[in-house]
Amino acid sequence: MTITLQVNGVPRTVDVDPRMSLLDLLRERLGLIGAKKGCDHGQCGACTVLIDGRRANACLALAVAVDGREITTVEGLATGEELHPLQSAFMEHDAFQCGYCTPGQLCSAAGMLGEPGPSAVTDDLLVDPDLTPEEISERMSGNLCRCGAYVNIVRAIEEVAP
Ligand code: FES
Ligand code: FES
Repeated sequence: MTITLQVNGVPRTVDVDPRMSLLDLLRERLGLIGAKKGCDHGQCGACTVLIDGRRANACLALAVAVDGREITTVEGLATGEELHPLQSAFMEHDAFQCGYCTPGQLCSAAGMLGEPGPSAVTDDLLVDPDLTPEEISERMSGNLCRCGAYVNIVRAIEEVAP
């Protein structure tokens, strides 16, 4: 079937198999290979993209289910030559890790910063918590780095967090 979606600000119309995942659509049909296929089971976060500004595992979303939606991949975070503040902070804090986990970490962090409300480690559920390292770690816990190189990632996100 034919779907039309906005990918990194560009309208795309694609004929897809109804069984195709959003991740396969991005990588195999649209040539956007930033989002990685790590586990293909929703467990590693390597495929994280933003769907209408909210982070999602692209391996778990069917392409047909995002018909008409706005998708942002890691390729779309920068504005022209200007890096996204998270990309700059990752560079500054030496948080760039391997090409497999970093795109997902960046997209997840970009989505996370726009998600208010408590998390599993928030003490007072009635006030929006500050994004402490503990809160950031909890909110980024769906993005795995097999090397455990999380310290600098948290520091970079902390710098950009409001
Ligand atoms: S590839 Fe999607 S969560 Fe691992
Ligand atoms: S640096 Fe990417 S998985 Fe560890």
